[in-house]
Amino acid sequence: MRNHTFSDRLGVILDQRGLKQADLVRMAAERGKKLGKSQVSQYVSGKVTPRRDVLELLTSILGVEEDWLDGTNPAAEPALAPIFTPAPPSQDPTQRSTAMREFKKSSKLENVLYDVRGPVVDEAARMEAEGQRILKLNIGNPAPFGFRTPDEVVSDMRQQLTDCEGYSDSRGLFSARKAIMQYAQLKNLPNVDMEGIYTGNGVSELIQLCMQALLDNGDEILIPSPDYPLWTACATLAGGTPVHYLCDEDAGWYPDLADMESKVTPRTKALVIINPNNPTGAVYPREVLEEIAELARRHQLMIFSDEIYDRLCMDGEKHVSIASLVPDLFCVTFSGLSKSHMVAGYRIGWMVLSGNKRCARDFVLGINMLSNMRLCSNVPAQSIVQTALGGYQSVERYVEPGGRILEQRDYVYEALNAIDGVTAVKPKAAFYIFPKIDAKKFNITDDEQFALDLLHEKRILVTRGGGFNWDKPDHFRVVYLPRMGVLHECMEDLADFLSDYRQA
Ligand SMILES: Cc1ncc(COP(=O)(O)O)c(C=O)c1O
Repeated sequence: MRNHTFSDRLGVILDQRGLKQADLVRMAAERGKKLGKSQVSQYVSGKVTPRRDVLELLTSILGVEEDWLDGTNPAAEPALAPIFTPAPPSQDPTQRSTAMREFKKSSKLENVLYDVRGPVVDEAARMEAEGQRILKLNIGNPAPFGFRTPDEVVSDMRQQLTDCEGYSDSRGLFSARKAIMQYAQLKNLPNVDMEGIYTGNGVSELIQLCMQALLDNGDEILIPSPDYPLWTACATLAGGTPVHYLCDEDAGWYPDLADMESKVTPRTKALVIINPNNPTGAVYPREVLEEIAELARRHQLMIFSDEIYDRLCMDGEKHVSIASLVPDLFCVTFSGLSKSHMVAGYRIGWMVLSGNKRCARDFVLGINMLSNMRLCSNVPAQSIVQTALGGYQSVERYVEPGGRILEQRDYVYEALNAIDGVTAVKPKAAFYIFPKIDAKKFNITDDEQFALDLLHEKRILVTRGGGFNWDKPDHFRVVYLPRMGVLHECMEDLADFLSDYRQA
């Protein structure tokens, strides 16, 4: 029986009606109602079921009986009532059509989710345009919060600008790749050569490139939950099937190995780890990495390790690259300057291929083709990699005792845990914390609504847990980059908001 869950029934009716998810969003808007793209995508994927008012809206849009759609009367047939469809354009060539052709986005984007810049952020932008002041705890972009790029980096880019007018080699400038290679040596990455180092317009571009190069339709890739959602989005867009393994909050947010193992199938090609992690701030110890490596070895999986926060570890944590533990496996390690050197806007990241390259020869041909097709990454930004990676690292000052990031982490961690109904694991790196809200106490069934309510009532912008492919409505992410004064204001307002919040 195909229609025993809400998402099944919704799928059946969309098929019968010949409607796409985007049509639901449009038809709701035509009725003056707001239905977010990500909301619909979550209903279709079965992650969330709609609240009563949304159910009524869907019932009326789809022209079905409510008790069929909500499953209270599963025996009933969907009973299709006619729904409004626009008349086809006139075929008379002498008559000019008045209706403009509508250009829809490709269906490839149907299940792609990127809520870090999603509907709640759109609502915040609308409120800002009205003149309201929004306290932003939603995006990991250090520069606007007063984290300055080291002067030497800026001055070196200025000096080299006139030498950076042409395209570079598609992998990147020799000087940049040499510096990345030396950094890879310091992190003990095995079997690295200059050919296996690629610069990108941020790690973002390279994640996209790897997913396109590796995944055929239906190929599976293990991705953490919660994740940095670009991984899931790019795997989906490439036609792959992201399969989420759990990171366990009760175990300091380390990956749950048993869960990971249980999700491996004959179609699994690769596994992704994000270490240090966004959104949890976890740093995986060597023993955990060894276990992950062993699992990858058992199932012959390619490893992608996103290490963009590796220079932002606190409390004496020493970052270990998983690639250093797997000389016998093929591994791709990602990093960049966006976070460690506060130059997220310059767009410079890289990936390093290491370990057993023999088993990945064909994949590398694919990578080379895609890398050539994009010509090269931003050359002025490549020109500062050597300066940035060598010598004194000013980022260390931020994460040692007395440093801004560490002090702000400590304050936010304490303040969140002091709120009745909120608990949070202490992050060990980066600048994110992923607190849990007692969904029962606050009756939270929809985390997007929670984020919207907080925005409307206190003008605080956070990202809902669902935006990180977390499947329960009981988490949200806080970026603790704003200055202490702003963080104080936010935490006090959040405590006040939660003192009497109950979702309707
Ligand atoms: C885990 C993770 N990977 C990759 C990125 C993208 O970084 P880039 O600026 O290099 O594209 C981010 C950005 O927030 C991130 O958190």
